[in-house]
Amino acid sequence: MYYPEELIEEVRVRNDIIEVVSSYVKLERKGRRYFGLCPFHSEKSPSFSVEPSKQLFYCFGCNKGGSVIQFIMGIENLDFLETLKFLADRAGIVLPEPEDKNEREKFRLRKQILDVNREAARFFFSTLAGKNGARAQAYLKKRGLTEGTIKQFGLGFAPGGWNELTKNLMEKGVGKDLLLSSGLSIQTKTGELVDRFRDRIMFPIFDIRGNIVGFGGRVLDNTQPKYMNSPDTPAYNKSRELYGLNYARLSKSRKLLIVEGYMDVISLHQAGIDYAVASLGTALTQSQAWLLKKYAEEVIIAYDSDTAGQAATLRGLDILEKAGCNIKVLIIPDGKDPDEYIRNNGPEKFKNLVDRAISLLDYKIGTEKNMYNLDTLDDKLKLLNSIADILAAHDNNIERELYAKNYAQQYGISLDSLNSEIQKRRSRQLSREKAYSLSKNTVPEREFPELPKIDSRFGELEYMLLVILCNENRLFDKVSKEYGLDAYIDKGARKIAEKLYNKLEQNKTCVLAELLNVLDSREASYLVRVAETNSGLDDADKAIQQILNKLEILKLEDMQKQTLEMIKNEEDGRIRQKLGLEFSKRAERIAELKRLM
Ligand code: GTP
Ligand code: MN
Repeated sequence: MYYPEELIEEVRVRNDIIEVVSSYVKLERKGRRYFGLCPFHSEKSPSFSVEPSKQLFYCFGCNKGGSVIQFIMGIENLDFLETLKFLADRAGIVLPEPEDKNEREKFRLRKQILDVNREAARFFFSTLAGKNGARAQAYLKKRGLTEGTIKQFGLGFAPGGWNELTKNLMEKGVGKDLLLSSGLSIQTKTGELVDRFRDRIMFPIFDIRGNIVGFGGRVLDNTQPKYMNSPDTPAYNKSRELYGLNYARLSKSRKLLIVEGYMDVISLHQAGIDYAVASLGTALTQSQAWLLKKYAEEVIIAYDSDTAGQAATLRGLDILEKAGCNIKVLIIPDGKDPDEYIRNNGPEKFKNLVDRAISLLDYKIGTEKNMYNLDTLDDKLKLLNSIADILAAHDNNIERELYAKNYAQQYGISLDSLNSEIQKRRSRQLSREKAYSLSKNTVPEREFPELPKIDSRFGELEYMLLVILCNENRLFDKVSKEYGLDAYIDKGARKIAEKLYNKLEQNKTCVLAELLNVLDSREASYLVRVAETNSGLDDADKAIQQILNKLEILKLEDMQKQTLEMIKNEEDGRIRQKLGLEFSKRAERIAELKRLM
C-alpha cells in the first residue's frame, strides 16, 4: 500500500457515497436504500442500490459492489491510486507523495508532462499570434474560425524550423528526457532533438479536468500526413480521451454528438452546437463509450455518409449499444463532414439534421434497405427477413412492437406474419442462449465482475464469517479464539482475515467498507454480495455460532473420511481399534453439532 491505511480511510469517509454516486446515477430513495440504473451494465429497470448507512453500493443485476472507492475506480476507469487522488481532491484532502517509488515516479512524470505540454501550448499560441503565424492565421480565417474560437480551443502554430520548440523549452530548463517522454521532441540518428510538430496548426487535447494531455497538428496544405498526433505517454492515452469533451460535458443539452475530426468539433461549437466531441482519429473504443454514457442521456453519432464513414458508424454503434447508450444516428447528406455542411448550409440547417436524427433501429433497417432493389418480390422477402432479424435482436418489447407495425405498413405486409417471424427468431435465440450458458456453465458476459476463486465448501462460510465480524466487531474475541487465522481453508478468505484480524487485534474497529480499502474490486464485489445475501440476519451471535458449527462439521467430516481410509489400509489391529474409537468420538461430536443447528 502506497499510503498509510488511516489516510485511505479518511479519504473514503470524507466522500459520502450517496453524494458521489448521485453525480453519475439518478438515485431514488426506497426505504433505507437508494436505487438507480446500474452504470456498470445496461438495464432498463433499476437494480443498482446504494446503502448510506453502510456506505456501500451493490447491483443485483451484475453483482458489482463495493465502497465509494470501487465505484470511482469502475466508473472513472482509474486505478487505485488515481482514484484516491480523485476522491482526495474532491474532499479537499492533500495527499502526500506516495511511498511507493515506482508510483511516485509515474505521478511525477505525468505531472511534468502536463506542465511541459502547457508550456508548449503557450509557445504555439504565441507563435500563431506573432509574425511567423500570419500564414496560419490566414488559413484559420479562411476556414471560418473566429478569434474567440481560436482562443477557446487554444489553437496555435508550430513553426517550420527544425527545433524551435525544443530550443525554446530547453532554454527554459526542460530536460532532454522529458522532451522525449512528452512526445514533443524526437531524436534524430545523430542523437539531436528536433520538434515532432513542424509547420502545423496545433490543436491541444484537453482532458476533462482541463489538463493538456497531448496535441494534434494539421498541415496547412495538402501534404501528407494531414494530421500528426502525440504518441501515447504517461499523461495521454488516445483510446480514453474524446476531443472537446471538456466543453461538451458542460452543455445544457445533456446530449453528445460524436463526429470524426478536430475541425468538425471546433466548427460545431462555434456554431452553437456545444455538445460535439470527436474520437481522436481512431475507431470508437469501449472506454470512450463509457465516457459518453456517463455524460449524456442521448448520444448522436454523426459520421460521413461515405462507405468508410458508414462502416465506422456501424462499428461505433455496436460499442455504444454495449455501453448502454441511448443512440441516434445523424446522416449528413452528400458525403460532407459537419464542418463543410455548416459552412455551406449554416448552423440552423445542421440543427435540423440533429432534430431529425434517426433511431438505431431505423438506421440499421435503412442500411439494409439500401442493399436491395425493392422492385422484385425476392428482394422484398430478403429485406423483410433482415428486418425480422434486426427487430428480433432488439430487447425493448414496446419499441419492437411499434417498429414492427410501422415497417409492416411501410412495406405492405401483414403485421401478423412479420410478428411471427420475429417471434420465431427470438425463441430460437433464447434457446441458443440457454444451451450456451448450460453447456459452458459460464456467467453471462455482462455479469462482470469475475468472482475470485473460492473453495466451494469452506470459502462461502468463511467469507460470511468475515462479513458478520465487520458488522459486529464485538464478536472478534469469540471468533478469533474458535477460528484463528490458521483455521482458514480458503486462501482468499484467509488473506482478508489477516487484514481484518490485524485491525481488530489492535483494538480498532473496522466496518466492511473500510475493509474493502485494501481489496481488489473482485474481492470487494464478492464480499458485498455475501453481505447482501445475508443482510436478513438479525441475531449476529446466533449466526456466527451456526457458521462456526458448520465449519467444524465440514472439517470433522473430512477427518472422518481420512480415518476410514486409514482403517481400511491398517493391518495392526490395535491401531485399527484406536482409529475406530476416534471415529466414533468424532461421530458423536458431529451429531451433537447437528442437533444444535
Ligand atoms: P479537415 O480536413 O481540416 O477538415 O480536418 P478533419 O478534422 O475534417 O479531418 P478528417 O475528416 O480528414 O479526419 C478526421 C480525423 O481523423 C482528424 O481530425 C484526425 O484526428 C484523424 N486524421 C485524419 N488524417 C490523419 C492522418 O493523416 N494521420 C492521423 N494520425 N490522423 C488523421
Ligand atoms: Mn473536415
